[in-house]
Amino acid sequence: MVLNKIIYNSFLTRSNNMNTVELIRKKRDGGSLTSEEINYLVSSYTKKEIPDYQFSAFLMSGFLNGLDKNETSALTEAMLYSGKVLKLDSIKGMKVDKHSTGGVGDKTSLILAPIVAAAGVNVPMISGRGLGHSGGTLDKLESIPGFRTNLTLKEYKAAIKKCGAVLIGQTAEIAPADKLIYSLRDVTATVESIPFITASIMSKKLAEGIDGLVLDVKTGSGAFMKTQKNSEKLAHSLINAAKAFDKKVIAMITDMNQPLGNYIGNWLEVYESIKVLRGEVKGDIFDLSIALSGAMIYLSGKASSIKEGAEISKVLISNGKAFDKFMEIVAEQGGNLKFIKNPEKYPEAKIIEKITAEKNGYLESVDNYTMGMFALELGAGRKTKEDKIDPTAGIIFKIKIGDYIKKGDVIAELHTSSKQKVKSIEGKFNNILSFNSKPVKKPKLIKKIIE
Ligand code: URA
Repeated sequence: MVLNKIIYNSFLTRSNNMNTVELIRKKRDGGSLTSEEINYLVSSYTKKEIPDYQFSAFLMSGFLNGLDKNETSALTEAMLYSGKVLKLDSIKGMKVDKHSTGGVGDKTSLILAPIVAAAGVNVPMISGRGLGHSGGTLDKLESIPGFRTNLTLKEYKAAIKKCGAVLIGQTAEIAPADKLIYSLRDVTATVESIPFITASIMSKKLAEGIDGLVLDVKTGSGAFMKTQKNSEKLAHSLINAAKAFDKKVIAMITDMNQPLGNYIGNWLEVYESIKVLRGEVKGDIFDLSIALSGAMIYLSGKASSIKEGAEISKVLISNGKAFDKFMEIVAEQGGNLKFIKNPEKYPEAKIIEKITAEKNGYLESVDNYTMGMFALELGAGRKTKEDKIDPTAGIIFKIKIGDYIKKGDVIAELHTSSKQKVKSIEGKFNNILSFNSKPVKKPKLIKKIIE
């Protein structure tokens, strides 16, 4: 159920006589809140008319009792209209974005935005920073000297018009309710709720001015959702929310039981993306990037299937047009092209430490969450909001599940600026891997496509 902005505003005027305690009680006792009630709670909290402790109580009752489909749509809508909803009607053509639920080494945004823009589809992308063990597109882009992710909304529109793609961070005008609610969820143990995650993600994506959205819902040890069952539940919830707002949508459930590609860390991931765009790297990162860009091109109507969209993507890589588009985007957003043209010239981390395998065998599993945390420890992520990121820090993980490894083989490189950090990780690195003496099947990369 979707309400338009006029009805939503009239809710706000009619909701003044609502009783916050009664609404918390209703949700606590397993009842369903109406759209009007949810709008009241979100808008009052955003205006600071409801204190943190009452909104926390609502969050916990919603976390424990769940929110139904209508409540989830109402929450998404209330959060969406807490800020600006961008209109991109003045830009010709379809606008399609991708959202990933996050993981380790997931750099597909950097690869698919130029591919899809080179295919003639607009890609308005508002991305996030690293969160815990998982990296963030903004931090990766900002490792390119000069690259600006804080464009104004006017510059955002101008960049899409000019290049067909733009990658920026969330502005204060976009879904401000999500910013407030997310911080509160973070400190009240209410993050891992499918309705709350749905409303949080979709309120931001719907504000971008898109016609279509491809969702990459990760599953496995390096993902928010560890099991395929929960990842599918989240995918269906996100799809329902997108459909309620008449958006075209496709979800892919994809593997996050090992890093995507081989490079983890901000500049390292930009470098690997450049290699993919130059046609030098194949494997999982290439396969997933072209599947996702293929789905975006298909949603735009420029291909008759995901497969055809993926074929178009492959051609755009091999004829150099996707890489040229990447350079155009970087130049438009102020990035120094010297490092994109010659990434080998980028300063390396002060310390590069090789890690060798402690036993023979087929790589069977990776504790991918801890892999992400190791990269964070080395300087690629933040422990507190104030921490500064080291753009050169990270891990090159050279092996994949199913590979046969001999004791003494170099399996990883740790990149960092601190000897201390290397010391704390090198002795533990082999512990996050398990080996089997018998051959191990490689995990399926794309586990399911839900249209
Ligand atoms: N990403 C978001 O934007 N919100 C969530 O709640 C979880 C992941």
